Amino acid sequence: MKVVVLGAAGGIGQALSLLLKTQLPAGSDLALFDIAPVTPGVAVDLSHIPTAVSVKGYGQDGLVQALEGADVVLIPAGVPRKPGMDRSDLFNMNAGIIKNLVEHIADTCPKALIGIITNPVNTTVAIAAEVLKAKGVYDKNRLFGVTTLDVIRAETFVGELKGLNPAELHVPVIGGHSGTTILPLLSQVKGVEFSQEEIESLTHRIQNAGTEVVEAKAGGGSATLSMGQAAARFCFSLVKGLQGEAVTEYAYVEGDGSDAQYFAQAVRLGKNGVEEILPYGELSAFEAKAKADMLDGLKKDIQMGIDFANQ
Ligand code: APR
Repeated sequence: MKVVVLGAAGGIGQALSLLLKTQLPAGSDLALFDIAPVTPGVAVDLSHIPTAVSVKGYGQDGLVQALEGADVVLIPAGVPRKPGMDRSDLFNMNAGIIKNLVEHIADTCPKALIGIITNPVNTTVAIAAEVLKAKGVYDKNRLFGVTTLDVIRAETFVGELKGLNPAELHVPVIGGHSGTTILPLLSQVKGVEFSQEEIESLTHRIQNAGTEVVEAKAGGGSATLSMGQAAARFCFSLVKGLQGEAVTEYAYVEGDGSDAQYFAQAVRLGKNGVEEILPYGELSAFEAKAKADMLDGLKKDIQMGIDFANQ
């Protein structure tokens, strides 16, 4: 199994790479690529950790080599959010980076499963899909926007509020990966009752959790450690799927388009990526309204990506 991290020297990239080095199955290969000159050093640093995962670092000119033979490519490359910026402000900076990286994936490892972390995910996934389509290698079952951070935040915040172990909670989160497009389905959390006030405040906190981190870091960047953990969990599920184990994760994928062309919901993973998109069940009146209210914005985010890729 070969896993490649593009943007591996950044805050998310380093946290993610550490978790992959320590927890990927024995015998896996980990390839780290970043334009930052420190990248080969990050790989050497990680290579001293005694696990049976080989790690190689590639600088500026090594993108093709890094991607050769990849089974999974995770992309946190980009520019992080600063205070006062929302995720859409990142669009112009990060869209070009994604377009370029995905063109190389299409040419070098077109069968790889691709997990996009670079924000705004609502849009960067659409850019990636268009690039893959233009190259004639798009497979909707192999492209994912990583929304696992929304799920782990939802589980953490519900656990905190209710005094429960978050590791034992399961909170579905559907929609997109920005602001009100993030929709936690609190009505479906088994064995936990919420007042309407709790539903509203938890939903608001989950939707704005990225800003909580940005403000607390006071100019020092956005979520990196929790995002690294979330992306690693997602990657381990992709790898288990490739190895034939049936696993379920939430991810932003192209489905039947009944909500929006790309929409986060539960997916069953397997040897070819998405094996099945699972229905999200009945929504409460609050959730149904939140979903209806968010769809126009999400569709605009998607269209922006399609337009960017085809301009
Ligand atoms: N190819 C590879 N790596 C790149 C490229 C590129 N074209 N452009 C930038 N990078 C690298 C940077 O060199 C840096 O090491 O991406 C890394 C980004 O790391 P940070 O600046 O620390 O940002 P981080 O907090 O990790 O966030 C990265 O994830 O959540 C999103 O919005 C966030 O888009 C941002 C991304």
